[in-house]
Amino acid sequence: MVKIVRVNNHCIRLRYGKPIDTESLEYDIQNAEELQTLPSLPLEIEEKENTIKLSYIMGEATKVLGLGENVRGMNKRGGLYESFCTDDPIHTPDKKSLYGAHNFLLVAGDTPFGLFIDYPGKITYDIGHTVHDEMYITINDVHADLYIFQHGTLKELTLSFRSLMGNSYAAPKWAFGYQQSRWSYGTKEEVDKILRAFEVNEIPCDAVYLDIDYMEDFKDFTVDQHKFPKFESYVRELKNKGIRLIPIIDAGVKIEQGYEVYEEGVKNQFFCLNNQQEPFVAAVWPGKVHFPDFLNPLARRWFGLKYKVLVDMGIEGFWNDMNEPSIFYTEDRMQSTIDMAKQSEGENLNIHSFFGLTHAFQSLFNHPDDYKKFYHQMEGTLINHKSVHNLYGYNMTRSAAEGLKEIDPDRRFLLFSRASTIGQGRYAGIWTGDNYSWWEHILLNLQMMPAINQCGILYTGGDTGGFSGDANGQLLVRWSQLSLFTPLFRNHSALNTRAQEPFAFDEKITRILKNIIKLRYTLIPYLYSEYMKAVIQHGVFFMPLCFEYEDDFSSEVEDQLLVGESLMIAPVYRENAKGRYVYVPEDMLMWKAVTEKIEKTEIVEKGIHYIELALEETPIFIRKNSLLILSKPAMNVDNLDLSELTVLGYVSDEAVYVYFDDDGVTRNYVKGDYAEVVIRVVYEHNQFAVTIENKGNHTLRKLHLILMGPDGSREERELLIDQ
Ligand code: GLC
Repeated sequence: MVKIVRVNNHCIRLRYGKPIDTESLEYDIQNAEELQTLPSLPLEIEEKENTIKLSYIMGEATKVLGLGENVRGMNKRGGLYESFCTDDPIHTPDKKSLYGAHNFLLVAGDTPFGLFIDYPGKITYDIGHTVHDEMYITINDVHADLYIFQHGTLKELTLSFRSLMGNSYAAPKWAFGYQQSRWSYGTKEEVDKILRAFEVNEIPCDAVYLDIDYMEDFKDFTVDQHKFPKFESYVRELKNKGIRLIPIIDAGVKIEQGYEVYEEGVKNQFFCLNNQQEPFVAAVWPGKVHFPDFLNPLARRWFGLKYKVLVDMGIEGFWNDMNEPSIFYTEDRMQSTIDMAKQSEGENLNIHSFFGLTHAFQSLFNHPDDYKKFYHQMEGTLINHKSVHNLYGYNMTRSAAEGLKEIDPDRRFLLFSRASTIGQGRYAGIWTGDNYSWWEHILLNLQMMPAINQCGILYTGGDTGGFSGDANGQLLVRWSQLSLFTPLFRNHSALNTRAQEPFAFDEKITRILKNIIKLRYTLIPYLYSEYMKAVIQHGVFFMPLCFEYEDDFSSEVEDQLLVGESLMIAPVYRENAKGRYVYVPEDMLMWKAVTEKIEKTEIVEKGIHYIELALEETPIFIRKNSLLILSKPAMNVDNLDLSELTVLGYVSDEAVYVYFDDDGVTRNYVKGDYAEVVIRVVYEHNQFAVTIENKGNHTLRKLHLILMGPDGSREERELLIDQ
């Protein structure tokens, strides 16, 4: 039996059976109207043999966007995907899932529609993989909520979905500064050394990350006093210099007598249980661990409040990791694999037995059957992990976010996670996990951004320069020219890989990277303003071109993005390329930025262009009748001077830009405590007329305007801002 309700003008919900409440969405179901008959649906839905199957026939031109964080291009057609949060560090196109499970699709056929499947277990998507024109989605259950969005453009359908998600997470303003990470800067000396290099090279930076080695034996909420003596005063000393330390927190809690987190968790039954109702044991970084039962609200609150020990030492940001959860091995599987190896001892292994043995060892890591071995306590009943797998990382992050809010209600913390599902955007951001120093991963990073935003996760970015493998300077430069625009701009790399800090290569690369990072600080007024408007208005920050332009080319473009309302980006992602083809869907102002100085600008007409781009040039396209707001660079966000800003614009008729600003630290923006400066530029009779309207308190005193008109006209002027 299916129950149907109309959720809003675009959306109906079909409820099959009695689904688990994932709390992915947050809307008022009281306002939803119950429908007695099934309206016409864009796809077939069938309940069959304990599954729900959805099918759709795609026209030759149909594109399927979405699935958030996943492999392959923006158009998912041709691929086979699973939504099952997976710790898989090799992000190749044959993989089916990554760390997030994001069940939202936008089908761009003759009549576009959107689909969100609210279901916490595995779902498979065959999008024209088996049969070119056919899409099949299988849910191995008869309990699920299906949300279908219709009667609108791709952008309208996305915004309608976004409106059901509740309020988005707002990162603090300093989290828009450049951030440096490495597995690991494992001692105070190593952190100092890195920061000295930033200072000597005069490269701005806002945060340095502490990977697992800062802890005592990989125990959450501990700091190894030998490696980081007087940690608290060190945190404060760095903060005074504008640098925040960001520690990692892992999902697994080390089993060790005398370790408070372990003992409290066992005593209160806050860990996931095995089928004997004892805490389930798996192995991760510290060896044997228990997993906190984040689906149990009491355990969630308990773990969330543990962050206090680090907050009390002055920490203002965290990254939550290994929360798919990742399992290196379980004891019994390890034992049976060892037994198998022992039996093979002295044997003459042939192809089958040799690969059988190596496969047995390799598949110890995140074995799918290990996810069936443990249980959560949800509302008094035990639920097998596998059926709610995708809620784990999300609820770990929720635990942190709710805990941090209770610990320091006013402060905005930096928080992001590796695993996620839809709903997590209310609590935190994500980073896209363990990519590689491969050129292909610059493109993959770009392609995931709009799809992740569609799922309501706005604070996001990839490991710039690549996590695994050795980067070269060229790769890091080109990657940074993309990360320049992602809310999270963090350079992170793995143990035993080549050093990858901006000064780790040669002088030329250091100079180029320094300019790119300074340019980032110049862009912060625009990036932060666009991000915060997306937070407040339930919007998106990144969009594919087809959200704004309806021509056929725009729907084909897989390597360019719209960033906020004014910008289009087209980064270089091929090694040794001296430039690239760019599709310009309307006349735009192109700025080949080398430093923060506004030089090398020109109007580029609608069409396909080969744009030459030397290694140091970042292409930035300003849309017609749009404005870009820039500041002078600074060594960190706290030192940005926002009293004098530059406005760069291309105006053929009228451009209106709402510049948002707030204190960037507290949650006061929720109460409407923020400023909006409305900058209006009209171009008429070969002249620019500029008007400014102020709402709320801000620090802006002076604008330096650089305006370009359609016929080559250019004007610069200064404007004082009255309060
Ligand atoms: C995981 C994370 C990575 C981190 C490493 C060690 O692989 O994804 O970012 O550096 O663990 O903690």
